[in-house]
Amino acid sequence: MIKVQNIRHSFGSKTVLRGIDFQLEDATLSGLIGPTGSGKSVFLKILAGVYHPTSGEVIHNIDRSSDISLMFQEGALFDSLTVFDNVAFPLVDGDVPADGLPESVLCSVRDQVEEILGHVGLKKAAFKIPAQLSGGMRRRVSLARALVSRPRVALLDDPTCGLDPVASSVIMDLIVELYKEYKPAILLVSHDLRRLLPVVEKVHALFDGKLVYSGSTDQISQQAEGYVEHFVSCRYDLSGVEGRAS
Ligand SMILES: Nc1ncnc2c1ncn2[C@@H]1O[C@H](COP(=O)(O)OP(=O)(O)OP(=O)(O)O)[C@@H](O)[C@H]1O
Ligand SMILES: [Mg+2]
Repeated sequence: MIKVQNIRHSFGSKTVLRGIDFQLEDATLSGLIGPTGSGKSVFLKILAGVYHPTSGEVIHNIDRSSDISLMFQEGALFDSLTVFDNVAFPLVDGDVPADGLPESVLCSVRDQVEEILGHVGLKKAAFKIPAQLSGGMRRRVSLARALVSRPRVALLDDPTCGLDPVASSVIMDLIVELYKEYKPAILLVSHDLRRLLPVVEKVHALFDGKLVYSGSTDQISQQAEGYVEHFVSCRYDLSGVEGRAS
């Protein structure tokens, strides 16, 4: 469980997050939505400990740093490392030499890396470098890296951003599959409400640095405050969004 109380965050004179109270429960798949620039990525980085908030508290019951992982919006793969070594990175505490992992280390992490690469359908691409992959494949590598250590908390920043509908569906299905398999707490940022809302159990909405809605997906379009309703109905056509998948 991660809980934040009255988080405020500024970059210089620009305030990005203002007075956020939030809770991420264990073993729950939650969504985080909000217009571009509303502070979603900054908020995830605060939850992951990448940034310290200007004020407010982040409280969690997580003792090892490997129990919380962040999939960066921009992917953040290492261009010179193979897919295998990119995915192995969290398992060796980032200690990957430029010429790859030595055989002694490889042995101890191989099963875990191969298993997750199998999940994301990239076993055959294990020894390619990121430049040889499509955008969707790179996203799957990032997802595999975020989940290879089986973290108790996975913060996934817009994993379908810029992907076509088929590649987006593949990524969303993988997230749901991995969630069902070992039930981490997942906070999933997406602009794609049509794919997000059916799979999450809870949704949070950020608007202009404030958390304006936290609750069930059923009520987001009906009961959220006026500006969320405006944001949701103007930016996204929600017709055809079914109830969430079990
Ligand atoms: N390191 C930084 N220094 C200064 N300003 C920043 C920094 N990181 C983010 N910001 C600003 O904080 C605001 C929120 O940015 P953030 O990246 O969290 O938005 P977002 O909701 O993730 O948007 P998007 O949906 O486009 O990814 C933006 O105005 C951005 O310019
Ligand atoms: Mg972002």
